[in-house]
Amino acid sequence: MTIQTIATTPIDDQKPGTSGLRKKTRVFMQPGYLENYVQAIFDGIGGVTGKTLVIGGDGRYYNDSAIGIILRMAAANGVARCIVGQRGLLSTPAASNLIRKRRADGGLILSASHNPGGVDEDFGLKYNGPNGGPATEAVTAQIYARTMDISSYRILEADAVQIDALGESHLGDMAVEIVDPVSDYAELMEELFDFGAIAGLFSGGFRMCFDAMHAVTGPYAREILENRLGAPSGTVVNGTPSPDFGGGHPDPNPVWAKALMDVMYGPDAPDFGAASDGDGDRNMIVGAHCYVSPSDSLALLTDLAHLAPGYSGGLAGVARSMPTSAAADRVAEAKGIAHFETPTGWKFFGNLLDAGKVTICGEESAGTGSDHVREKDGLWAVLLWLNILAVTGKSVAELMAEHWGRYGRNYYSRHDYEAVDSTVANALIDNLRARLDKLPGQSAAGLTISGADEFAYDDPVDGSTSTGQGIRIYFEGGGRAVFRLSGTGTEGATLRVYLERIESEPDALAQDPQAALASVIAAADAVAEITNRIGRTTPDVIT
Ligand code: G1P
Ligand code: ZN
Repeated sequence: MTIQTIATTPIDDQKPGTSGLRKKTRVFMQPGYLENYVQAIFDGIGGVTGKTLVIGGDGRYYNDSAIGIILRMAAANGVARCIVGQRGLLSTPAASNLIRKRRADGGLILSASHNPGGVDEDFGLKYNGPNGGPATEAVTAQIYARTMDISSYRILEADAVQIDALGESHLGDMAVEIVDPVSDYAELMEELFDFGAIAGLFSGGFRMCFDAMHAVTGPYAREILENRLGAPSGTVVNGTPSPDFGGGHPDPNPVWAKALMDVMYGPDAPDFGAASDGDGDRNMIVGAHCYVSPSDSLALLTDLAHLAPGYSGGLAGVARSMPTSAAADRVAEAKGIAHFETPTGWKFFGNLLDAGKVTICGEESAGTGSDHVREKDGLWAVLLWLNILAVTGKSVAELMAEHWGRYGRNYYSRHDYEAVDSTVANALIDNLRARLDKLPGQSAAGLTISGADEFAYDDPVDGSTSTGQGIRIYFEGGGRAVFRLSGTGTEGATLRVYLERIESEPDALAQDPQAALASVIAAADAVAEITNRIGRTTPDVIT
């Protein structure tokens, strides 16, 4: 087996976004494209000689071939050991756990998360560091810089390694260890949660529907919910990972998990419904006739996590991304624990978790997690909910009603405008930015603007500053609208408009969120000129 050094030139725009590099699959499949990026990662993190890497993905189209290339490149670059999920599968949280548990130097996760998969859909690659979390901004910048001056990559000329059977083999001088993707993760969940109590719930007739959306969590959910916790078989639906996610869009929200919503709002609704995304880090929680928004879920978990053994000592603090509703802040204030507001993207939670400043984190985009790994974790959130349901004996609807009664309710919604012309989207944001100083005091569709700014974050741990993290407009009466452009899209620009209004009037806690937010929605449109500039009257996706 010979190591080849292949001359190459930089490829335009290999700039990693919120979660690594994400492009159309065919872009990744172009000769040298993946290779250039992998070499840029290896070089950007200071070389990989003698290192141990964890490798796995969500099973989408091109997962296996990409892993084959990455392994041959790792061997040629001097990696000592690659720990690979069997058949190339590892959920993102399971990969994070393996990096930590095996004290690896980092990992490569192949996924475009909740984006559809297939030869004409999306693919992605992300580097996680030794703490198990997404690369920091500084490391990402080094990787990106390397993509712009790369001149060669190294690859071993060898047959493809088999990754289907457990065990250890060698590729050149590198050890390739194929591991069960589920067992270490399932063990960690057993340490955190009261499996006896949850099993008792199921043996008592509690009914649940977990929609794995044909994605990577299927095997994890079957093993944990059905095999270990005794939920009836069939509790997990769409549980076999498929390269194109069954032709669906594996994003666990009421729009893309509509089939689950229909079951949970149907005449014979189970007690509990949940779903996870392509790579298993997002979650959706829904009780019988009761959808729980991710922001509310974060607040409730902050309030009641101590009911699970892994959190019985209470929480150090809670962090949420800026666009996430402030519901969790009020719980933290009531409990006297710290709360933090970070830019969008899980990587910003890493330092706070590493420093022990927070125990739980969450994002409005269906991400919730804790210090057990350094990624958001879909099944973890589901199991924490199950643990709370088992201990309290209450339904999801009862828990939410009590929560809102105690803390008030943050009505919340996100409106997405997808595949917008990038120039138009950037102009909308630039225009808002230019007017920020003049907005306070102005009226927008009947609401008076009380404040406006652009979010910047000073990391309290490493002192770094991240600017340009979203435009915030505050309205008198407690409303807020946030505007930012997606960093994970692969087609044009996606404008995200985050809408929020707090309500503490007891009689007004059970409204439909879109109705409750009508005035803020109209004001957001007026102030940002969305309809005028984008030429659309309704968003593409409302969550
Ligand atoms: C989106 C979500 C963000 C999340 C990220 C990765 O990023 O909004 O909360 O961290 O996906 O799952 P965006 O496309 O908005 O940049
Ligand atoms: Zn994901």
